Amino acid sequence: MAKTRIIVALSGASGIVYGSRLLEAARELGVETDLIMTDLAARMVEIETSLDPDQVTALATRVHDNFDFTSPLASGSARHQGMIVIPCSMKTVAGIACGFSDNLLLRAADCTLKEHRPLVLVPRETPLSAIHLRNMLVLAEAGAVILPACPGFYHRPQNIQGLVDHVVGKVFDILAIDHQLYNRWREGDMS
Ligand SMILES: Cc1cc2nc3c(=O)[nH]c(=O)nc-3n(C[C@H](O)[C@H](O)[C@H](O)COP(=O)(O)O)c2cc1C
Repeated sequence: MAKTRIIVALSGASGIVYGSRLLEAARELGVETDLIMTDLAARMVEIETSLDPDQVTALATRVHDNFDFTSPLASGSARHQGMIVIPCSMKTVAGIACGFSDNLLLRAADCTLKEHRPLVLVPRETPLSAIHLRNMLVLAEAGAVILPACPGFYHRPQNIQGLVDHVVGKVFDILAIDHQLYNRWREGDMS
């Protein structure tokens, strides 16, 4: 059976740990990842974590330059099971909503939408302006899943990792990738 393969894009919003953890968890689950990282995302790794950007790119199966429009990801013909932008800045939200594909991340998202593959956007911004909300509505209407980085608490997270893993687990749920990143509410009652 072909391997599960996803595009993972990290943009320059706060919450870069969600992206690095998703790459790590995908690797642990045997899911192949094609990574696109914006310049600001690399900067956020330095600002918000004790990791080096190279340590984050090393978690991916393949890495694509954000300005290389000759990448296979710039075409709708690329085979993958979905794309995640985590975290997703409001600038990148605006770019995807307008179809303004002036970097590889935006083009890959544009292709993912036009090919009707799952596109999951994980914004962290708060509060949200009417412009942000309008752009996200446009994207939801076009078929994207807007999955804000808002962890739940019903699984009794014990630390920051527990909060991050809940958001990452919700992303995998959308892509039908099986995982044990958080305890589901009353799952025992379903068996
Ligand atoms: C410390 C810091 C935190 C930021 N946090 C956010 C954020 O949470 N959400 C957001 O939309 N932009 C945030 N930005 C601004 C983006 O980095 C900026 O809009 C950038 O152009 C995004 O580009 P990209 O989407 O191509 O990575 C932040 C910038 C810095 C330096």
